[in-house]
Amino acid sequence: MNFSTITIAGSGVLGSQIAYQSAFKGFDVTVYDINDEALEKAKERIEKLKGRYQEDLGASEQAVQDAYSRLTFQSDLSKAVQGADLVIEAIPEVVKIKTEFYNELGKVAPEKTVFATNSSTLLPSQFAEATGRPEKFLALHFANEIWINNTAEIMKHPGTDNNVFEEVSQFAEAIGMVALPLHKEQPGYILNSLLVPLLNSAELLLSKEVADVETIDKTWMIGTGAPKGPFAMLDVVGITTAYNIVNAKAVATGNEEFKKLANLLKTEYIDKGKLGTATGEGFYKYPNPSFEDPDFLK
Ligand SMILES: NC(=O)c1ccc[n+]([C@@H]2O[C@H](COP(=O)([O-])OP(=O)(O)OC[C@H]3O[C@@H](n4cnc5c(N)ncnc54)[C@H](O)[C@@H]3O)[C@@H](O)[C@H]2O)c1
Repeated sequence: MNFSTITIAGSGVLGSQIAYQSAFKGFDVTVYDINDEALEKAKERIEKLKGRYQEDLGASEQAVQDAYSRLTFQSDLSKAVQGADLVIEAIPEVVKIKTEFYNELGKVAPEKTVFATNSSTLLPSQFAEATGRPEKFLALHFANEIWINNTAEIMKHPGTDNNVFEEVSQFAEAIGMVALPLHKEQPGYILNSLLVPLLNSAELLLSKEVADVETIDKTWMIGTGAPKGPFAMLDVVGITTAYNIVNAKAVATGNEEFKKLANLLKTEYIDKGKLGTATGEGFYKYPNPSFEDPDFLK
């Protein structure tokens, strides 16, 4: 793997994390966003990450400062990608924004530069032509809180060069991820292909009034030995994301069960500010949710 100079495009929730993690593992990283205001926000976000690396990973003060010093912030795209071996795109999940970005990036980036998208729901083949270099383009998908949840799903589109796929996998390992190769395009990658149907099924059991939240979670936990049930997982994902998935399905299919479920999530949870662990309450109350009680599984 010959990558040493990395550019992260989009410095929001995930972009900041990918940038800081790569710098923490010794790479020189340029952080690109549309203007200086967005970059100032990224700096604040990354300042907070320093604390999390110390708390969660036991990183030293020196190590978190050194990582920060390997970051450069830039709002001019052609300057941001000058000399880049790899550009990781983490800009909004909007087709038009991403297409325009790749059109521009393809023009200003050096010929050698590999492009990777962190998109959660859009397939790389959708943007391959816009990049102008389909063989050097693929998906590299991280999970939120990358320094703890260290999966990197690496997914080809039909035109991706195998050597590029290998190099990006090696880069993912070099920044402390577990590289998880997907040899074909798959909406939702591996994790969400498994997780979304599970979570949807649990939510439907609730809205059909088959069983309550705690009974459903208990069944899953005792039956599989998992430390959390689907509703505890949903509290981490966030009820807003869960609602968006279910509502999109309701709109696309007109399915009555999904409509009823979307309505339940909206009126009983979102409208009441119960958005999950982020607001201290979702399906459970935090801290000390009942599923963590030693007697919960009895
Ligand atoms: N949030 C998550 O948990 C998560 C997890 C995995 C993957 N993703 C994916 O990562 C991508 C970004 O998600 P996010 O949650 O970090 O979004 P975000 O809204 O937090 O950040 C997006 C950033 O992109 C910037 N931006 C907007 N237009 C731009 C452009 N044309 N060029 C450069 N930067 C631009 C914005 O200023 C902002 O800083 C999406 O594709 C999403 O699917 C998100």
